[in-house]
Amino acid sequence: MDENQGGDSMSINQTSSYRNITFEEKDGIGILTLNRPKVLNAINQDLMQELSSVLDVITKSTTIRVVVLTGGGDKAFVAGADISQFETMTVNDAIQFATFGQSVFNKLESLNQPTIAVVNGFALGGGCELACACDFIYASDTARFGQPEVNLGIIPGFGGTQRFTRLIGKAMAKELIFTGRMIDAQEALRIGLANKVFPASELMNEAMKTAKLMLTKGPVALAQAKKAIDEGYNKEMADALEIECEAFAKTFETQDQKEGVKAFLQKRPPKFLGK
Ligand code: COA
Repeated sequence: MDENQGGDSMSINQTSSYRNITFEEKDGIGILTLNRPKVLNAINQDLMQELSSVLDVITKSTTIRVVVLTGGGDKAFVAGADISQFETMTVNDAIQFATFGQSVFNKLESLNQPTIAVVNGFALGGGCELACACDFIYASDTARFGQPEVNLGIIPGFGGTQRFTRLIGKAMAKELIFTGRMIDAQEALRIGLANKVFPASELMNEAMKTAKLMLTKGPVALAQAKKAIDEGYNKEMADALEIECEAFAKTFETQDQKEGVKAFLQKRPPKFLGK
């Protein structure tokens, strides 16, 4: 349990105004569930709007320190964009659809808080892209990943040709995108797409354990580490190291840095305040 949450009272804050997602804040952890289980949580325009709104809430929150993202029901994380929308989609609609989806996934990727994709079943197309926009992926042994868009005569449009490729490498991404082949959790683990695989019944508990462990760290330090990794990733080494240097220095502006060092020297656990 996080010793920095002030006492043992449990704080649960549920936002119930959404129809396609649920969002719950529990002791500093935001649990975001894409929730259209009848269609395997496929992403339609309404769901994407709601996802965008809840990400704004998370961005502004001073209490949510880690985000866990999963799919409703026991069969799917997200089985992709809602294919029924594609039937009447024009070229201009397609530009708007991809631009909006990419902006929402960018918002997710650039949250200050660490994010864990808890992949509890199919993560296909937009679902795989969504998982790749989180900081890392934990999967159930029942999870299946893939970018099957070519089966529909289209390609990934929410970052799949880019984030997926950066995670698993160019040749592997090409093979999976060109064939639309689905991979199981063990293969996802082997190619570095999923960090860990758990039995389905243990997946959420294990993700929450990792979330709680991150809650015990300084939030500014985590945010700066995330920024340095993400911003530096596609830069030349010299520029990337400059970003790291700035982020490292920023942590020295915080009370948490003083507390962390003092607590170590006094041989006690730190009490980080996020300041
Ligand atoms: N968009 C819209 N509806 C979807 C969907 C999607 N991406 N994925 C699944 N569904 C719907 C199915 O149409 C079905 O609806 P129905 O009960 O009204 O017929 C329901 O979800 C359950 O799916 P079903 O196909 O019956 O389950 P399954 O276990 O036989 O197969 C999948 C599961 C994931 C393999 C299969 O649903 C599938 O291939 N989905 C599409 C995946 C995809 O191409 N995603 C990328 C889109 S760009």
